[in-house]
Parts: sequence; structure tokens; C-alpha cells
Amino acid sequence: MRQTPAPIKVQPSRTVRSLAEDVLDGLFEPPRHLPPKYFYDAHGSRLFDAICQTPEYYPTRTEMALLSRHAAEIVQLAGPTVIVELGSGSGAKASLLIGACAAQDRQVCYAPFDVCADVLTESGLALQREFPWLNVAPLVGDFTAGLEHFPLPAGRRLLMCLGGTIGNFTEGDARDFLSEVCALMHEDDYLLLGADRVKSPALLHAAYNDRRGVTAQFNLNVLSVLNAELGADFDLANFEHRACYNEAAQRIEMYLDSVVDQLVGFPELGRTLELQAGESILTEISRKFSDESLQALLHGAGLRVARHFESSPPLFSLVLATRAGN
Ligand code: AVJ
Repeated sequence: MRQTPAPIKVQPSRTVRSLAEDVLDGLFEPPRHLPPKYFYDAHGSRLFDAICQTPEYYPTRTEMALLSRHAAEIVQLAGPTVIVELGSGSGAKASLLIGACAAQDRQVCYAPFDVCADVLTESGLALQREFPWLNVAPLVGDFTAGLEHFPLPAGRRLLMCLGGTIGNFTEGDARDFLSEVCALMHEDDYLLLGADRVKSPALLHAAYNDRRGVTAQFNLNVLSVLNAELGADFDLANFEHRACYNEAAQRIEMYLDSVVDQLVGFPELGRTLELQAGESILTEISRKFSDESLQALLHGAGLRVARHFESSPPLFSLVLATRAGN
């Protein structure tokens, strides 16, 4: 079995705000909000995996089924020598594509990119156990910091952004992000994008309000991250998880509601956060796409849809795209 090297840090191509700056900027006056990337410390990443196991959270299961069904065709079309996954998490999805490469006798290497170094180590190990011949070249960093300095491995690439991560971006940010991905791509490279679809509000609501409360724990965990990283003194018991589907905006909005009047100390920032009962913090948006809005997003970013795989009913989409003008 090969050994996964330590992750290479991807240098940001624009300055991104530090956690302290994001907190100062987002938390101290309404509308209060936090970037969703802070969910994913080691514990949060594990909680996210647990969400994927809940009966209500259909995206992962649906996307995995789509991947299993179409991996051979995707690999055939894209013919990758390297698979680059933006926001790789557990690596379970990559495993399906790497397996399909192996079945077609294609030598491929895997470059997972994630914000969480611990997760990269774990997923690298798991994949190399499964595919002892596999070369894994992990990259750690924040893809909201720009991809200009992304050390894209040479070869014919299949880039992947799966799970509906793209839904965490606003329309403009999603277009900018995909444009940057597009700028990295050569003529014969492909992007595989997973996107969640517009559907019955009841199904969406259930997916973000699972009965066992795993999503609630995941949401609340961001406060533990602030406690650990900034020495804040959030009492998690003073907050409640709330997720609702905003039909007009076609997005899930996830909030933490303050259930009491409270003061939260940020000694390292020399600040105190004052929250009234009923005040909320927006912790995530998760946009849902129609066939049209997904096409429009990709076109706007300079990408052309080569294949569109969707479940039936269309709960989730996988789009295989190339640079437009190819
Ligand atoms: C990992 C961003 C795709 O938006 O569905 C799951 C995160 N949040 N449950 C999503 C999430 C609450 C997830 N993404």
C-alpha cells in the first residue's frame, strides 16, 4: 500500500477574512450570519457524515446511486488520469469513480482538496486501503480563497464538486467559483458537478430537520468551533436549530435561534455579543436548482453541459461539463 503524503497547502489567491474577522463582520449586528465553512472541524465533518446516514437526508444517497449507476460512463467520457475533488470530505464518492477507473484499467491518481486536514488524512488512508495502487496527493485549503494558485496536477483531469456544495454559494459567488474552476481547466478536462434540485418543500424541510437531531448538532457545532478557536463562551443549550425552505429564493436557510436573552463573551476580541431571545444567526444557505437555473449557472461560468444525469424523480443532478467553446 502506498502512503498518503501530508497535504499540500493551497495558497489563497485573494485575502480571505480570518475567523475573527468573519465573526466581527457577521455576528455583531443583524442580519447576523456566519460562513458555513466553519462547520467542518474534525467533529463537524463527522457530524456531516452522520447527517448523510439519516433517513431524511436524501442528497448523499441519491448522488451515490447516480454515481454508481453512471461512473463507468463518466470515466469513459472524461478519461481522467487524475481526479481532483473540491470539497472531498470522506472520499466515499471518489471511491466509486476510482473503482470505475480500475475496472477500465485506467491508471488514475486522486487529489482531494478539503478545508479539514484531519479528514484528508483519514480519507486518504481509507482509499489507499481500498486501492493499494492508488496515488493520493491531498491538498488543504479554502476554496473560497480563490483557485489561481491551485497546484492542479498535470494530465487529463476530472474535477469534481459534489454533494451540492455549490448550493452553499449565492448565485454570484457560485458563478465566480465555477468561472475560476473553468479557468483551471484545459480543453479535454471535465467537471463533474453535483447539485440539489428544487422539490417538495416537505421533503426539503425533513432533510434539514432530521428526527434524531443530527443536523441540529451539526449546526450547533459551529458555536463550539468559535469557543475553541476564539475562546468565546457560547452555551449551546441557549440556542436552537432551525432550517426552513425559502420557496421564493429556492433555498434552505439554516439558523441558530437564541432562545434566551444572553451575553456571549469574546475575550480575545475584547467584545461581548448581546442576543435577545428569538434573534437568529444565519449559518448556511443551501440552494436548490431547477434544470434551467443549473444550466444558466454553468453557462454563466463558461461551461458547457456534456451530460446531465438525474435521479427519477429528479431529486438530485450530476452534470458533466467541459469548457464552453471546446
Ligand atoms: C454539504 C453543503 C451540501 O447544503 O445540504 C447538510 C450541508 N447542511 N445539512 C447541504 C448540510 C445541513 C450540505 N452541503
